[in-house]
Amino acid sequence: MAVEKERRDFLGMALGGFTALGGIAALGAAKRTWDPLPSVKAAGFTTVDLTEMKENQLVVEKWRGKPIFILKHSKDMKSDPRDVVVGDDKYFVAIGLCTHLGCIPAYVPDVHEFHCACHGGQFDANGKVLKSPPPSPLVIPPFKIDGTKLVLGEEGPEFKEMKAKKLIA
Ligand code: FES
Repeated sequence: MAVEKERRDFLGMALGGFTALGGIAALGAAKRTWDPLPSVKAAGFTTVDLTEMKENQLVVEKWRGKPIFILKHSKDMKSDPRDVVVGDDKYFVAIGLCTHLGCIPAYVPDVHEFHCACHGGQFDANGKVLKSPPPSPLVIPPFKIDGTKLVLGEEGPEFKEMKAKKLIA
């Protein structure tokens, strides 16, 4: 009788162990489903060929659902430490969302300024605040220069240097 009880206890423990292992495996599978796939992260890049860009003409690209402003400077525009230099040309690159409440400012080429229609905020052609309420400059997204291409979403040496100099808002 005692042998029978011991056998039942052993079977119960073994079954409990299998159930626990099954539960852990199920949790592992669920976790894998919650985590973003590596390919999704890798797809978070936008590559822009700058060769066709015209001076003082704003190009709006999309990166991770956000508008990205790319503005090729004309010769009469002021140089700025936040300029993205590619060959002999300078570009302004920023997330095109006002740092006040997130509206998309419009570029006014005649005065080389960005004007936000929501509350009257203004930025210069380098994204610096000219008129409040925006509290800070337009934000520069992570970027890398690859020849004549701009890769958004990757921190290249130029971006890291700006970051080290605290030029990235
Ligand atoms: S959202 Fe641009 S000034 Fe308010």
